[in-house]
Amino acid sequence: MTPHLSSPDPAARRHLLKLALASAGTLWLPRGAFAQRRLAFDPFGLGVASGSPAPDGVVLWTRLVAPGLMDSLGTEPVPVRWEVAEDEAFARIARRGETLATPDLAFSVHAEVPGLAPDRWYFYRFIAGGVASPVGRTRTLPAPDAAVSRLRLAYASCQRWEHGYYGAYRHMREEGVDLVLFLGDYIYEYPNATAAVRNFPTLANVITLADYRDRHALHRSDPLLQAMHAACPWILTWDDHEVQNDYAGGLPGDGRPFGLNNTADFQARRNAAYQAFYEHMPLRAADFVRAAAGGSLVHEVKLARRYRFGRLADLVMLDSRQWRDAQVCGDPSHRSGLVDPATCAALDDPARTLLGPAQEAWFDGAMAQAGGGWTVIGQQTLFGRRDNLHGPGERVWNDGWDGYVAARRRLTDSLQRHRVRSPVFLGGDVHENWVGHVKADYARPDSPSVGVEFCGTSITSRSARGATTASRLPENPHFIFAEGTRRGYGICEFTPQGLTTTLRVLDDATRPDPRVETLATFAVQAGRPVVERR
Ligand SMILES: [Fe+2]
Repeated sequence: MTPHLSSPDPAARRHLLKLALASAGTLWLPRGAFAQRRLAFDPFGLGVASGSPAPDGVVLWTRLVAPGLMDSLGTEPVPVRWEVAEDEAFARIARRGETLATPDLAFSVHAEVPGLAPDRWYFYRFIAGGVASPVGRTRTLPAPDAAVSRLRLAYASCQRWEHGYYGAYRHMREEGVDLVLFLGDYIYEYPNATAAVRNFPTLANVITLADYRDRHALHRSDPLLQAMHAACPWILTWDDHEVQNDYAGGLPGDGRPFGLNNTADFQARRNAAYQAFYEHMPLRAADFVRAAAGGSLVHEVKLARRYRFGRLADLVMLDSRQWRDAQVCGDPSHRSGLVDPATCAALDDPARTLLGPAQEAWFDGAMAQAGGGWTVIGQQTLFGRRDNLHGPGERVWNDGWDGYVAARRRLTDSLQRHRVRSPVFLGGDVHENWVGHVKADYARPDSPSVGVEFCGTSITSRSARGATTASRLPENPHFIFAEGTRRGYGICEFTPQGLTTTLRVLDDATRPDPRVETLATFAVQAGRPVVERR
């Protein structure tokens, strides 16, 4: 049997993690004395975060951990106080409360703070065992009817820990964003990468709840990632690697590790992954549902949600993993792959869905209520059709929207039916930057553009294509830009008049302190589905 992070010998694991963290430095801020049962160590080794913002509140997150991050904190619940203040010195407290961190949810804390004022920054911290956490900064949403002059957000995805360093977040923190949109692959479930940049020698396939907790802790141990979480709220969705490569709804993906690939085993694995995801993200308690279905336990995490930034923008977050139908026409061993649409009629089968019927209906309802501002659709992957075969014939990737053509058409039909004024799709997954037009019908090049799309590169995860990425542009003319060698993130700045998107890329994500530069800048006018390079 392959050893896992959760296997015995905690002393060895602790030692290894300390090695991994040896150059991490410290971000902890000064702390006072608090009257609680004292802990002999700092339990905030995974940092703090906020998310799920509303006009009157936000979710504050932390998870208490032992010094080795992956060791047990015992079986007794730990009381945790939280404070939200208008100032960084915590002189003007806006709200405070107390909750219990319990072992059944890995001592995670999801404090749902009510009663805050709309559209303003706050500072927050936790206190547990007499120890204060680092201070985080968060922001509430504007009131739904407010006139908002600007929204500045960063979008990011795909941060395989051992593929590089999180220098992207050091630079993102200097961009002055209101919000981070994370679009999937927050962790990777694989064993250690070949030619790993960062080494954690016991990385094995992630399978059990303890495994998923440890893998989240490893990614979250990075001080630059922690600092970006502490800088502003994050809104997240996930892709496949939070569970398993190319999984589809209740079906396992590529079968790794082989021998653990039947549906019943996969349901237990998915439950574990979903629980660990909830435990490590600033989600509301109601977003994590443990439901009995047909005699077995099926965990659900609710990520599809609409956030309103006053009258300036609606953000609609989608989940294209949890409810999807199986991929078709791919490799028989694990379904996904490049397929020829000329020989795969099932790609167009209207009965197949990527979001699931309930989420599709919800999306259509959200489009019916779209205001006159921007409609930002945050989802996992490239939205537009992409032929990956040079010359005659076509090959499309069946694990993304190209594998669910009728489902994609229902989304663009919904945009048109409700005359959604300024749709902007943001995505990740492909580890390359792609920028283009969303077409009413990708099979007809002359069909109208109904929106624009920015699919972002990875924070660290390697690109398979690299330098040949742009060579696919001529056969996919609805895209105007593609680049695959650079890691980084995107910045979107929305105003009532226009959107400016800046692709920010690193010189080398395999170095701890990379430089950042602008790869390209794009402009979109409100109400006009045309993206132009500046
Ligand atoms: Fe990825």
